[in-house]
Amino acid sequence: MEDHIEELLAELDLDGKLRLISGAGLFRMAGDPTLGITEMPISDGPSGVRGENWDERDPSVSLPSGTAIAATWDPALLTEIGALIAAEARRKGVYAVLGPTINLHRSPLGGRHFECFSEDPLLTAEMADAYVRAVQAHGVSACPKHYVANDSETDRFTVDVRVDERALRELYLYPFERTVEAGAWMIMDAYNAVDGTTMTENSLLDEPLKGTWGFDGVVVSDWTAVRTTESAARGTDLCMPGPPYLWGEPLAAAVRAGEIAESAIDDKVRRILRFAQRVGALDGTPQATPVFSDEQAQDLVRRVAAQAMVLVRNNGVLPLNSDTTVALLGPSAGEPRFLGGGSATVIPGHTTTPVEGLTGRLPLTHTAGVHLSEDLVPAPLAIMTDPETGEPGLSARYLKDNTVLGIQHRGTSRLVLLGEPLAAQSDTVEMRTRLRADIGGDWQIGFGGVGHIRLDIDGETVLAENVAPASSDPAAALLNPPQRHVTRMLAAGDEIEVRLVTSIEAAMPGLGILLGATLGIRRPQRDAEEEFAAAVELARAADTAVVVVGTTEQIESEGVDRISLRLPGRQDDLVAAVAAVNPRTVVVVNSGAPVEMPWRDDVAAVLLAWFPGQEFGAALADVLTGATEPGGRLPTTWPGTMADVPVLNTTPVHGVLDYSEGIHVGYRAWLRAGTEPAYPFGHGLGYTTWSTDDLVVADRTVSLTVTNTGDRRGKHVVQAYLSRPDSAVDRPARWLAGFTAVTLAPGESRTVSLSLPDRAFQHWGPGGWETEPGEFTVQLGTSVADLPHTASVS
Ligand code: BGC
Repeated sequence: MEDHIEELLAELDLDGKLRLISGAGLFRMAGDPTLGITEMPISDGPSGVRGENWDERDPSVSLPSGTAIAATWDPALLTEIGALIAAEARRKGVYAVLGPTINLHRSPLGGRHFECFSEDPLLTAEMADAYVRAVQAHGVSACPKHYVANDSETDRFTVDVRVDERALRELYLYPFERTVEAGAWMIMDAYNAVDGTTMTENSLLDEPLKGTWGFDGVVVSDWTAVRTTESAARGTDLCMPGPPYLWGEPLAAAVRAGEIAESAIDDKVRRILRFAQRVGALDGTPQATPVFSDEQAQDLVRRVAAQAMVLVRNNGVLPLNSDTTVALLGPSAGEPRFLGGGSATVIPGHTTTPVEGLTGRLPLTHTAGVHLSEDLVPAPLAIMTDPETGEPGLSARYLKDNTVLGIQHRGTSRLVLLGEPLAAQSDTVEMRTRLRADIGGDWQIGFGGVGHIRLDIDGETVLAENVAPASSDPAAALLNPPQRHVTRMLAAGDEIEVRLVTSIEAAMPGLGILLGATLGIRRPQRDAEEEFAAAVELARAADTAVVVVGTTEQIESEGVDRISLRLPGRQDDLVAAVAAVNPRTVVVVNSGAPVEMPWRDDVAAVLLAWFPGQEFGAALADVLTGATEPGGRLPTTWPGTMADVPVLNTTPVHGVLDYSEGIHVGYRAWLRAGTEPAYPFGHGLGYTTWSTDDLVVADRTVSLTVTNTGDRRGKHVVQAYLSRPDSAVDRPARWLAGFTAVTLAPGESRTVSLSLPDRAFQHWGPGGWETEPGEFTVQLGTSVADLPHTASVS
């Protein structure tokens, strides 16, 4: 293979080489027809494969987000998930999936927490390793991201993270090290700087990544993270997105002038050729992947979602009997979040909400009780008629200088123009539909977007404005743009003609157009007090109340950190009021990251559902009815209040974010502070009972016999933590060193063995990796705070 790569390299002139090291498009690597290399689409990741465009006409399977996947504590599940991701990639002609996201949960405020696995480097690394192997086994590249210390979002393009060498090696770099060992073909470097140098130019790309670790794949820049032409002399191999910009003409001139050595370019090209060979884009055909039917994909997503749900509290109310009457309440019951916001967004073709999932499984009443936001939502397909086809949907016309370049019939009122080829050639997009009021009252009708926007209703212009973005972050401008609306009194059944005309604006250099355009509505709503009271009445009348609460896209998304851990709106009040009238209240939390739950000791059960992917409702019904156990354990410490969180701050000071806590992150920090969280790392309940006996230590392998002493099948996660009481170095009180998940039938016993890796005994010292001689203590149990078995290991 390497000889062939050298031959191909020799055939390329400088222009040919430079064409390969920048993207050909927004989500597309360049090819070279004379060498027989096809262009290679690549796609976000990590919880589904969007493809090159955001288009509901080509939907994607939406998988549980990172925190949910890690909450399974079951890397073996990733074999199936990886096969599905690879199958989705192949179906969409994609050669690399931009994931997994393996930065750490340093602070619960981090906006992309939901996308990352855990606060613990070992749990993160085990999941990351399994993800990479599982996807690449089918000839599709994974792309672990973002290398490195991209653990929060505030000023993400410019923040300079100061982190000591030991914390970097033991915590933040470790998951990347393991994905290199797992054979990752591509790694994405981050927007931020570390110790003064932006990551696309940072020496950490040379050492340890390409040096000691021997990474021979492609380092791709995060989108627009390449800042200069001169950076081509450094470790980033592929500048995204394309078409070539900083590394195009200006770089050709710099190489010709001898300012940048051609050998530096050659190294990048070799890596890209190697990548092309690996993914089957070089003189070959990509490897066949498994094929999933819609039903198979839905079944897998549903199983994983249930395996990920963490039952942190249960006084015996769960599982529910099939004849229990349920008042299903809370804003997220009918309008849940299946996935987190930002580049991880995919457009699923099938979803089940909690209301849909529980209907037919349990006798149900439902109202939201609280509406989370005053924002417009995209007009639902069911109330739109395309005036040209008479079918549900809208017609989108793309115009350039008043000439129509193309017309699309779309099944969504939220158009993402980024990456849409027609939009790239146009200066205006016009959306037209007939909206039908399905209930009478005051309807809000308007738009979300940026640029010159005009809204006509029944031929009359009701809004016309030049709207500026509210934030300089493209992710926010795209997914969370400013909104405007008018109010119209409509009777049920009334129809109005709506036309939204939006200019298509250029965005930041190198990114092309940026915008999305949404035709939004807000239905007439019951008065807030009446709605709240109605929910409490339903709770009073039912055997059990299930309240589904959650975060919004505004507060938990890429591009922004959170400023509070409180649930938005009056959700805390709703739970408290419901719990006061119904002692059998179950709260389901639909968030990607921790939220405060001030009512947690006053309710009968609390189930954390994360962003569980498209089959939320079906998986929730399985867990609530006991068809499946909730299989999750906390991958991150769940605080009682924000004030208790030992490592919180994500706001840089004069551009610098100092990781002054060093290695004490997550449960390590909680243990050091001596503060009790609401629920500790590793915690989670099932529906059966367990005994664990006979701890045996042989060298660095610990074994324990696990018995299911209850009357139903269940999952047990054995966790092993090391500590070193009289250590000469500063250490956490204890740290995760191994874990395994077992599922057993009632009465069944199994002896599980954990081989604790050498690295678990090492620390990064002045001489590199060092092992303190002598004895370590190993403790086994079900969370970092429940460790009944103790032994020594040397
Ligand atoms: C994100 C990446 C993502 C890329 C392409 C960036 O803003 O940080 O995670 O892969 O966009 O969408």
